Amino acid sequence: MNFTHDIIIVGAGLAGLRAAVECVGQADVAVVSKVLPTRSHSGAAQGGITAALGNEEEDRWEWHHFDTVKGSDYLGDQDAIEIMVRDAPRVIYELEHMGVPFSRTPEGKIGQRNFGGHTRDYGQRPVKRACYAADRTGRVVLDTLYDQCLRHDVKFYPEHYVLSFSFDRERCTGVVAYDLATGELLSLQAKAVLLATGGCGKIYRTTSNGFASTGDGMSLAYRSGIPLEDMEFIQFHPTGLYPLGILVSEAARGEGGLLRNRFGERFMERYAPTVKDLAARDVVSRAILTEIREKRGIDGKDYVHLDLIHLGKEKIEERLWEITSFVRIYLGIDPVYEPIPVQPTCHYIMGGIPTDVDGRVLKDEKGSVAPGLYAAGECACVSVHGANRLGCNSLLDLLVFGRRSGLAMKNDVLRYGHGSISAEPLKRMESRIKDLLVPKGKEKVDSLRQKMQSMMMESGSVFRNEEGLKKGIEEIRTLKERYQEVGVSNQKKAFNYELMEVIELEHELDLSEAILLSALHRRESRGAHWREDFPHRADRYYLKHSLVLLTVKGPEVRYKPVKITKFQPEARVY
Ligand code: FUM
Repeated sequence: MNFTHDIIIVGAGLAGLRAAVECVGQADVAVVSKVLPTRSHSGAAQGGITAALGNEEEDRWEWHHFDTVKGSDYLGDQDAIEIMVRDAPRVIYELEHMGVPFSRTPEGKIGQRNFGGHTRDYGQRPVKRACYAADRTGRVVLDTLYDQCLRHDVKFYPEHYVLSFSFDRERCTGVVAYDLATGELLSLQAKAVLLATGGCGKIYRTTSNGFASTGDGMSLAYRSGIPLEDMEFIQFHPTGLYPLGILVSEAARGEGGLLRNRFGERFMERYAPTVKDLAARDVVSRAILTEIREKRGIDGKDYVHLDLIHLGKEKIEERLWEITSFVRIYLGIDPVYEPIPVQPTCHYIMGGIPTDVDGRVLKDEKGSVAPGLYAAGECACVSVHGANRLGCNSLLDLLVFGRRSGLAMKNDVLRYGHGSISAEPLKRMESRIKDLLVPKGKEKVDSLRQKMQSMMMESGSVFRNEEGLKKGIEEIRTLKERYQEVGVSNQKKAFNYELMEVIELEHELDLSEAILLSALHRRESRGAHWREDFPHRADRYYLKHSLVLLTVKGPEVRYKPVKITKFQPEARVY
């Protein structure tokens, strides 16, 4: 089956839906999503969205700019960061007008809370910058944007999994999608395709990410010859619920929660004397793991405590209702009376598909545009997070650059007609699916995935070194060979999730290799990339973005410069 639209958006999280809202009415827009739209992973975002509104105390966009650059360990592009932080107040008021039920101050203003690395007076002390809706901010914004899309008749293809792009020479002219409900393939033609497919946290064993976060969009771009930028920078959120990895929002520390080791000591005072528990995530995650390595974890185990008890029942239940209920349900612990066991959990990838500030995908280190292809949100790298993202800057990124991509697409599609779409990609995908469904059975998707996830934890998580990275790359390459023998035992057409998981695993293996390879080549420590064998930042050699490109000889690492406008790199202390 063939369908034609002006714009196809792949992914129904905040970036995709915000882009859709921007172009609907002026272009025929369709959103293709492998999950039901309201199950997109943006809905799991808890803590808030940053904007220097100054509702609770004085704040300025200039401070937000500085904090984000410093948080990025000076690898973020400062021009893009300036665009984002200056646009932030507009984003919040727009959401309020769309109907987002933000939490309020006693005077009725939008409430704001502390989050790690957000400060006033250029790092002097924490500032309340994150606008929030209890600890369900992503949920309410996702529902509001979905509502806006339905009101404006955006066409949805829910539970449709994009398998490949179509190209007319260089121009992207559409996608091939697999309808999970029927097992049929669809060819969708468009003048512009936006990738808003989210991150790839599921390549790690311990993660806050949902099952859908398998990096499909990044991998599809990579396989089409687009390099991936800064893939070595993987964020481990300090407070994953032990042992499940479920997110315990940083809002818990923003509201006054404290990290303690087995002696009850507030150990963050030693690692970040100025802002303590409210340091940037890379700093806090390393501190927790150092405590654990040095046997100060609770009962000698792999976790520390997050203590909320002193906040009192009323505040905990009003502001941190969702995480409190997770802790009660999954661990049978009541955070009102007992501390929460936490450990770092894979949360976010700073790198991704390189784009300009309007979401246009860049296909090389010179910045040439890949016509017809756009990317926004976690799958993209614009790059506003550099080597480490600050909490609550991600929803901001999705909304600012989702909108800008929408604006760019609706203007760009006026300038050209539909390119031709050949039957070849659809035929290729048909034969690939047929091939996967032939029982080979030697390898099982579950066991390959578990091995990959364990290897990524071992080699590519918070602490890294050359030996571990080389071993990890070797193992992932072995898994890629074994993948050739993977079988699908479910032969049914309707909702064949096993088939989808096999396809996802191929993407995940590619991305694992790209992450480890970029990490091996960066012989310094910067932000979330900590090399035990090179424990210092080396601006002289590595103040540059990595690009990993899939060539005929395999992946190759290249570099491009960082855009520095206002803040020269300085020592990064909190
Ligand atoms: O901790 C959190 O609520 C997560 C927020 C974020 O990743 O921005």
